[in-house]
Amino acid sequence: MRRAQQLGRYHLLDRIAFGGMAEIYRAKTFDSYGHAHLVAVKRVLAHLAEDDDFIQMLVDEAKIAGLVRHYNIARVYEFARAHGEYFIAMEHVDGKDLRTILERCRQHKRPMPAQHAAHVAAELASALHAAHVALDHQGKPMQVVHRDVSPSNVICSYTGEVKLCDFGIAKATLSNVHTKTGVIKGKVKYMSPEQALGRKLDHRSDVFSLGSCLYEMLTRVPPFTATNELDLLIKVRDAQYRPISELVPGVPPEIEEICDTCLARSRSRRYQSADEVAQALKGFLSRYMPRYSRSHLGRYVRKLFAAEIEKELRMLEEYVVDAAVDEDVGENLIANVLGPRAEYSTFSPKPAPDREGSSASQTAAPPARPADPSADTADSSADGGFDLHGAQTLILDKERGRRGQDGAPAPPDEGESIHDEPTLIIHPERRARRGGDPG
Ligand SMILES: Nc1ncnc2c1ncn2[C@@H]1O[C@H](COP(=O)(O)OP(=O)(O)O)[C@@H](O)[C@H]1O
Ligand SMILES: [Mg+2]
Repeated sequence: MRRAQQLGRYHLLDRIAFGGMAEIYRAKTFDSYGHAHLVAVKRVLAHLAEDDDFIQMLVDEAKIAGLVRHYNIARVYEFARAHGEYFIAMEHVDGKDLRTILERCRQHKRPMPAQHAAHVAAELASALHAAHVALDHQGKPMQVVHRDVSPSNVICSYTGEVKLCDFGIAKATLSNVHTKTGVIKGKVKYMSPEQALGRKLDHRSDVFSLGSCLYEMLTRVPPFTATNELDLLIKVRDAQYRPISELVPGVPPEIEEICDTCLARSRSRRYQSADEVAQALKGFLSRYMPRYSRSHLGRYVRKLFAAEIEKELRMLEEYVVDAAVDEDVGENLIANVLGPRAEYSTFSPKPAPDREGSSASQTAAPPARPADPSADTADSSADGGFDLHGAQTLILDKERGRRGQDGAPAPPDEGESIHDEPTLIIHPERRARRGGDPG
């Protein structure tokens, strides 16, 4: 048994990634109905908690990601401080990042099939477009540029979802931290020429980086490589790369052309918006493989990582969550941006009182996943297990949705959109028991 450590509203399970600035954990929390939710928690390394500039940068990251609501962007629930630690809680994407997928492709000496590459890049383009055109609370364009569109910041879930994450160095007009030269930089390999030159960037820089990711999916090698950073910067600046068809004969010319247009050195010769890229890729995919759906990607990723999925599942089963929780859940530093009815406020470290007889500690139920990763099923619901992320999301009716944890209706609000409504994830069986009534 492993004991999950509590941080704010969350119980930390296994660590999924570790970088120079933060650690990423899978974590568990409970909604006001006592249902468990998996989230990802990005915990800032202790020595950086003292760095005000760095913390401000994270506040910006969380604000941008917290404001941009899109299916292809990992939701940010809160940026909080608890027990002297800073962390971001966000939607957990149960899958593998594109960097890990591409490494596996290189091991297998096989690039990603064109249909998957087109789908991943199209979803990514949709995410970028949403970020590029996002408005702030006053309705003003935020002019977000992600600046770090690279394989490690794209996660493909085992059910075939594609999510962009890590707005760590994204810049928006709301950002008030100026990059200290040399301190914060994207990954050179995936930079645009103007970024390599240190020029002022607009959203078309992300279009170029998206092209670099697409190139690597199609060929399994990045378009620009060198043995040292200076040579790499020069190659990126010149945007000179080997034609895809030279590396991989047989790649459909249409997708090669789309990739080349993203990778044009001059911004004016690229697609002028990420939405144009998304449309071009979707058009290609509908001709190339008309019956393609996201479940095809899910199956592909599950097959690539069958052994790991098994291991992860077993490991998650070992965690227990203490019944005695610390009531101090800390302070959400972006609460003002998210508004009073934000999802995080329904999260609690406390499992609801167990009506069917309580026990001292609860086993942390792992995310249910397809039992047989290579199973040829079309979607997660057919796989038997309950998939938290694949579960239906129901929009509650206004009155019910407005009731907070204390049951008091929230004050009416103007201009509310369906995306502001709290969402509730209901276990398919429980839903059936409720007579299929979504309200
Ligand atoms: N929301 C998430 N769900 C699942 N895995 C995630 C999530 N966010 C990040 N990861 C994993 O952690 C890695 C690093 O996360 P990221 O936010 O990009 O941190 P960094 O700032 O260190 O690049 C990703 O490549 C991915 O493997
Ligand atoms: Mg990253």
